Amino acid sequence: MYTVPKLDDYSPQALDRAVADLFAALESESRALQGEADWKEFRDRWMARKNGVLTQVNDTWLKAAPGPAKREVGQRVNQLKARAESAIEEARNKIHTSAAGSKLASERLDISLPGIQRRTGVKHPVLRAMDEIVSIFKAMGYSIGEGPEVETDYYNFESLNFPPNHPARDTQDTLFIAGQEQKPARDRLLMRTHTSPVQIRVMEQQPPPVRIIIPGKVHRNDPLDATHSPVFHQVEGLAVDNNITFCDLKGTLDRAMKALFGSSVKTRFYPSFFPFTEPSADMQVSCIFCGGKGCRKCKNSGWIELLGCGMVDPNVFDFVKQNGYDSSKISGFAFGMGIERISILKYGVEEIQLFYEGDVRFLEQFA
Ligand code: DAH
Repeated sequence: MYTVPKLDDYSPQALDRAVADLFAALESESRALQGEADWKEFRDRWMARKNGVLTQVNDTWLKAAPGPAKREVGQRVNQLKARAESAIEEARNKIHTSAAGSKLASERLDISLPGIQRRTGVKHPVLRAMDEIVSIFKAMGYSIGEGPEVETDYYNFESLNFPPNHPARDTQDTLFIAGQEQKPARDRLLMRTHTSPVQIRVMEQQPPPVRIIIPGKVHRNDPLDATHSPVFHQVEGLAVDNNITFCDLKGTLDRAMKALFGSSVKTRFYPSFFPFTEPSADMQVSCIFCGGKGCRKCKNSGWIELLGCGMVDPNVFDFVKQNGYDSSKISGFAFGMGIERISILKYGVEEIQLFYEGDVRFLEQFA
């Protein structure tokens, strides 16, 4: 490797020779560089303040030069510095371009390869049934309402005429949020067990008349089996106005069921009980599998129970009385249906779990 020689002869010819040797060393060292690490070593060998080649040139050539030769030596040393700097800069650029070049090569894209085919999704059958029901009611002049899934005891039960400790609460196995023993009972949070609390929320927000359809997710402490899931979906409906009667309820639901299952479907209403409606009914549709003749699906009855409904109980209106709901002047009907159940009937699904497993083979049947 090149080392800076001592000079005895300071004649211009001798200086030219010394400089030419040094340039030759600079060139050949820079040509041999392989990568970033080599380059750093090269830079330091030439430029380091302490004992770099240029520092040595300064010490052994310039400082040692006799007075009259100093000017000549000084000029050459300056040339040398400039040349070394540009050689270092050049070497660096060369290394960087070739590094970028090999990176590009490794990331090269073969545009003749077949593309990745992304399969487009479809609307989940539960959502699809939900949207269909909502749009049937929208066409009848209903607007859409929504409410929170984490609800208070007041909205989920109390204002719907479920008094504290009333046995009707037992029909809705409720998931309570933990650690709220300090709060008054009506403020305690729970996962809503039905979409009915949104009825009260809507009536708090607007005076009558009301025509609202409320889709949403609900939660119950039910173990998962072929027909039950702890999380499922409902669509709730509420209509309040002057002179709303049970006939309006029957006509509205009959029309909606015909829109949903076909015009030959029949409906009938059976007495039932819900704390927030009086009278209450279960609505049944003629079996959509056998047309009402009786089959395994309808347990040979010809009818399938589909939803709960009734005339809004005056006790419910009393909770929103100050907002114009005077039960001696207005009346209303309400209904609530489980979407999974409707989707099961509409699409012939065997088990409720299939909706939640996310198995593409199941879902793609709805494409
Ligand atoms: N909320 C009831 C349930 O989940 C269903 C229901 C029944 C809703 C009667 C109503 C109604 O609006 O009037 O079991």
